[in-house]
Amino acid sequence: MRAPVRQKRAVDRTSFEGGTSVRQLAFCLLPFIAGSITSASKIFAQTELDPSSLNAGVFSVEQVERGREAFLAECMECHEIEEFTGSGAFLEQQQGETLWSVFEFIWAEMPEDKPAWLEPEEYADILSYVLSVYGFPAGRQSLPIDQESLEDVIITSPPRVGG
Ligand code: HEC
Repeated sequence: MRAPVRQKRAVDRTSFEGGTSVRQLAFCLLPFIAGSITSASKIFAQTELDPSSLNAGVFSVEQVERGREAFLAECMECHEIEEFTGSGAFLEQQQGETLWSVFEFIWAEMPEDKPAWLEPEEYADILSYVLSVYGFPAGRQSLPIDQESLEDVIITSPPRVGG
């Protein structure tokens, strides 16, 4: 009869000690956790878009994939992708303009029969898809939807494979 009681106490003490050490561990880790948040925000600050970044990858693979779907569903009714990405087409004409001007245009004006119909994120997806077809590489960051960042990116010609 007594043995199980003693055993139970032993188990209780073990779990109490376990709880203490987990708390102590968390306390010890706190500076590290705080440190990694600080360095994460430093990394974030470092990845601010710069004018050369269209070649470095300013949109993600996921955005391109979603954008392809959205383009098929929302834009193909009136447009072919070549109208934007072909030689002498829309994006080539936009050379020297900012990404914001193109983003704002498709957001504010397209689809022609229902402007601003989609979420800004969906327009960013579509723009990512169009830029990808044009020849720019996807990267690790996602194309942001804020004006300041997009104004920093100048539309250039994509790197041509094989010159
Ligand atoms: C109901 C028809 C319709 C739909 C749907 C539509 N557009 Fe348009 N779009 C037009 C018309 C009309 C123009 C102006 C004339 C032109 O360039 O064909 C235009 C022009 C554009 C231009 C400027 C082309 C240039 O050479 O100046 C872009 C970029 C564009 N559309 C993107 C989009 C995107 C992205 C979508 C999908 C979100 C979309 N459009 C959906 C009808 C449409």
